[in-house]
Amino acid sequence: MTTLSCTKPLSIRQFFDRDSCTYTYLLVDTNSHQGAIIDGVKEQLARDLQSIEQLGIELLYAIETHVHADHVSSAGLIRQKTGAQIVYSKAAGIKSIDIELNDGDILPLGQYQIKAIKTPGHTTGCMSFYIENSVFTGDTLLIRGCGRTDFQQGSTEALYSSVTDKLFNLPGETLVYPGHDYNGNTCSTIDEEIKWNPRLGKKKSLIEFINIMDNLNLALPKKINEAVPANEGCGIHVKANAYVHDDFSISALYEIWQQKDPDNLIVDNRSKEEYQQGHVPNSQNIPLGTEPDYLAYFKKFKHIYIYCHSGRRSQTALTNLAMMGLENISCVSHSGFDDWKALGYPIAR
Ligand SMILES: [Fe+2]
Repeated sequence: MTTLSCTKPLSIRQFFDRDSCTYTYLLVDTNSHQGAIIDGVKEQLARDLQSIEQLGIELLYAIETHVHADHVSSAGLIRQKTGAQIVYSKAAGIKSIDIELNDGDILPLGQYQIKAIKTPGHTTGCMSFYIENSVFTGDTLLIRGCGRTDFQQGSTEALYSSVTDKLFNLPGETLVYPGHDYNGNTCSTIDEEIKWNPRLGKKKSLIEFINIMDNLNLALPKKINEAVPANEGCGIHVKANAYVHDDFSISALYEIWQQKDPDNLIVDNRSKEEYQQGHVPNSQNIPLGTEPDYLAYFKKFKHIYIYCHSGRRSQTALTNLAMMGLENISCVSHSGFDDWKALGYPIAR
């Protein structure tokens, strides 16, 4: 950290997107007027560009805390309009960006330094950013909460370690600026979260935390199937040749099944126990979360069709497979094996 004598402070502006409850931050070194934006939302581009212009900011960076599933990022458009460099964690695996950060890397911002802290768990590529006495935690640590860990290669264990071993070891007075808030809170401190966070504070054990996270029963974000592929292109374009279809009916699956085309793979991604009690004949049981183990196998097929019990797990698997680079995937959504049974289609046990 350089110690220039200066009187003008770091300015932090916090903006809110009502639709996705996302916080966007503008950090400005008010001496040099150099700035950075964190987690810009595409729909709020005009608002953010206006602030950047009116405050006379030379925007150096468009930083993303992770690949968002609930909104499309404005990073690509911000780069086009301002020349800012797009910054992601290297672990996010996003191409067409300018700066890939590893744990501990530093981004200079005028007289300040932004320090990258790798905080995987909500996604593998999550990163928090520390500057002065503030930390921008993305979806890793929220005010009295934390990000979910049930898709995008999330890991409850990794999130626990990121928060308790890394973020909770920052100075207690550090201000916590999260990626979202759904209750009207804007800011917290590390000390407050250690004391009051109901999921991770009060020295919660890993076992207690896993138990909480396993029982959240959250619906998928509305925009996940649009936002994740779009954000892999920094919010500008979706992979042109990807055919990812998330609105497939159970009767459409039956038609595919009747074709018995060996180039098609039908995946049942329920648990082993559910599968054993009855499944679509010739379907393969690949329980949710084990997809990475089957990458080479998936690549042997022209098209993959996924179903589960209700359509929730199959949609999550579809997103996981698309993020692994697979194309030509369809999932049965808003329906599943119960409807297959109800329609009297054949069942194997
Ligand atoms: Fe997120």
